Amino acid sequence: MLDIKIEKAATLKAKPTDESKLGFGNIFTDHMFVMEYDAGIGWHDPRIVPYAPFPLDPACVVFHYAQEIFEGMKAYRTADNKIQLFRPDCNANRMNDSADRLCIPNIDPDDFVQAVKALVEVEKDWVPHSDGASLYLRPFTFATDVTLGVHASKKYTFCIIASPSGAYYAEGINPVRIYVEDDFIRAAPGLTGFTKCGGNYAASILAGDQAEKLGYAQVLWLDGVEKKYVEEVGSMNIMFKIDGEIYTAPCDGTVLPGVTRRSIIELCKDWGYTVHEEHVAIADIMKAGAEGRLEEVFGCGTAAVVSPVKELKWKDEVAYIGDGKIGELTQKLYDTLTGIQWGKIEDTKGWIVPVC
Ligand code: COI
Repeated sequence: MLDIKIEKAATLKAKPTDESKLGFGNIFTDHMFVMEYDAGIGWHDPRIVPYAPFPLDPACVVFHYAQEIFEGMKAYRTADNKIQLFRPDCNANRMNDSADRLCIPNIDPDDFVQAVKALVEVEKDWVPHSDGASLYLRPFTFATDVTLGVHASKKYTFCIIASPSGAYYAEGINPVRIYVEDDFIRAAPGLTGFTKCGGNYAASILAGDQAEKLGYAQVLWLDGVEKKYVEEVGSMNIMFKIDGEIYTAPCDGTVLPGVTRRSIIELCKDWGYTVHEEHVAIADIMKAGAEGRLEEVFGCGTAAVVSPVKELKWKDEVAYIGDGKIGELTQKLYDTLTGIQWGKIEDTKGWIVPVC
């Protein structure tokens, strides 16, 4: 249990008046949670302080060798004005899995959840009121040792910032076009694909930019060895409904084990769908598309929730999915997940953690 000190900001920022214009990750609240780690001492000085820049030495390890990990989660306001989280324990545990791979010290999952709840409680007035908007939470840990030696840092900072946000994609729940990346790769066995480390995202930016210039919302990554099997899309997992069954890449080291992904798999199984967590060749997906068997495709992640895909472009082939509109299962998943998250549907799974 952390002994969290709270220092309130002397002046508070004006809160956004038009929640339809929030966008994603553009506005930050008045406070942040911070604690530091020193080898031999452990995590110490947990506190909530006014949101402010960090004074950091230019030789900090994070600037040079990217020893950094993060999480993405949300706080939701229910119709009866309660604030709640969705499966924060999953984020706490995944953060530690990322930490192990990046040689970063673990944080006790109970302390992680306590810190998130404490910040959300202080910032409760920042949790948006409108449908589809939430307080996006970004916990992150970075290495602060001052050295140019390539070794695990002995000092770290863990921080949580909060950002009232709307839909991640400008398209919202409207179906997007996806470019299957056939040149760059995101992950390979033994690397960091299963972690949420900044480096994974840095390496993805060029391909994402190029796809955007061609009119696609995201890239679909193929496996890093054969460039044959589908893995994930830019910032989400991806699922395919073919002949009534669901297919998604397994979490065997190169794919992010998404919290939304595992929730969707549970829901689909509850609803009687067969879910295959297996390597599926892009050629087979395009073939299913050409034969009219590719019924639905959707990305899923905390920020975007569920994002329907209407078109896949791979080399010189294009697969059009369904009739270009959001599929029935995709819509049901979106409605169910957001229903549970915003408290409109009863949580029978123990996924919701109340804050205040
Ligand atoms: C999330 O879905 O929360 C993520 O962390 C993806 C992010 C890179 C926007």
